[in-house]
Amino acid sequence: MPIANCWLLPCYNLSLMFTRPPGFTYKNDELHCDGLAINKLAKKFGTPLYLYSATAIRERYRVLEGAFHHVKHTLCYSVKANSNLSILRLLAGMGAGFDIVSGGELERVRRAHKKSLSKVVFSGVGKTADELRLALRSGILLFNVESEGELELLAACAAELRKVADIALRVNPDVPAETHPYISTGLREHKFGVPMSSARELCRRAAQHKYLRVAGVSLHIGSQIGDVTPFHLAMERAVDLALELLADGHKIRFIDAGGGLGISYNSSAPIEFNDLAHRYEEAITEPLLRMKKPIPHLLLEPGRSIIAPAGALITRVLYLKRNGNKRFTIVDAAMNDLIRPSLYQARHEITPVNLVKGRSERVQSDIAGPVCESGDFLARDAILPAVAQGENLCILDAGAYGMSLASNYNSRPRSAEVLVDGTRARLIRRRETMKDLLQQEAACL
Ligand code: LLP
Repeated sequence: MPIANCWLLPCYNLSLMFTRPPGFTYKNDELHCDGLAINKLAKKFGTPLYLYSATAIRERYRVLEGAFHHVKHTLCYSVKANSNLSILRLLAGMGAGFDIVSGGELERVRRAHKKSLSKVVFSGVGKTADELRLALRSGILLFNVESEGELELLAACAAELRKVADIALRVNPDVPAETHPYISTGLREHKFGVPMSSARELCRRAAQHKYLRVAGVSLHIGSQIGDVTPFHLAMERAVDLALELLADGHKIRFIDAGGGLGISYNSSAPIEFNDLAHRYEEAITEPLLRMKKPIPHLLLEPGRSIIAPAGALITRVLYLKRNGNKRFTIVDAAMNDLIRPSLYQARHEITPVNLVKGRSERVQSDIAGPVCESGDFLARDAILPAVAQGENLCILDAGAYGMSLASNYNSRPRSAEVLVDGTRARLIRRRETMKDLLQQEAACL
């Protein structure tokens, strides 16, 4: 095989790949998603292709559920992480509630599992009157109110519809969380939540509105947080506030601890999810158990920790090229399909779908897509075993904030999504066509 077409490229750590949790595992040197060979799926559905393992989703959901079994709680899966209707339905079937941040996400929950509307919490700094009305009519569980202005607007919408809204003030606990600055949310300098110092006064005002009921305290300090200490600190503050609000006469029935639990994107430094889930549970519930009975119902809003490792992006090698000493593996997925490496300097592990025997050489290259920006890369200086043109690569841990952040940049239709359950593969979103892309536009003048 000509060298230009066959580089001995890198996998980060193939031995560990075999010990990955259910979902993506090698069998006879070929990567499988649940019980199905990924090459076959790529042939059938084309690439780039998002693949999800139903087994992995269920398992991760159960681990989190199990960790919190001794406190009254609801896992409100954060729809923004991956909002495919089939994934929402799968989780709803396991008892999940949902954390939404837009009217669009609310409609998705309605379409996926209407009964789950009563388990929806609505967060976000910029809810519009239409969105608030839609949520009021849908009978959601809780509005996480993020400003005084929103409180007044919600009060007006609720009065107009004569529907009582249960609210939790989303407070900004001013707790630093070590993560990428774009996804850290719990500091005073961030736009999220209201300062702790104004929470009591805002709740006092809320209680004067006939159609608002102060029912909880909520927070969310950021995403991809690996150390559980910040969760503990934030919960301490939430509980202190809840105790004050109870003393003020509000019936605090909910504490919403938000989402944010991180995962390992690196199989040489794996995190055992069971362990992490238990440490996370201790950090969250220790302050909560300081409260007198009945202890408020705990709400959690996990996104990434459930869905990220359960999904992967499959991409085909188009070209192997060299510019001076630098090598590039050009693939058919790009930043429009998975923007995390470009936007957050995220490192997703990439591995060939086929482990070819005797292919021991490793080659360092950038894995880049066809989009016309130097910022379009899926990995920088990745070290993989030699791959050839036409081979498929698997970008791991892409289940969260992959497809949900995908765009049509460079007029690229978004990829298909397939949910694999054991040996059954279901197309849960068909590949977009150029017709889909163009139908909203008019060529006037
Ligand atoms: N609740 C609220 C109010 C949130 O804003 C978020 C995420 C979550 C829950 C879920 O957090 P998780 O458990 O998934 O960490 N696009 C970025 C992540 C943005 C997170 C935004 N908010 C990324 O790709 O890393």
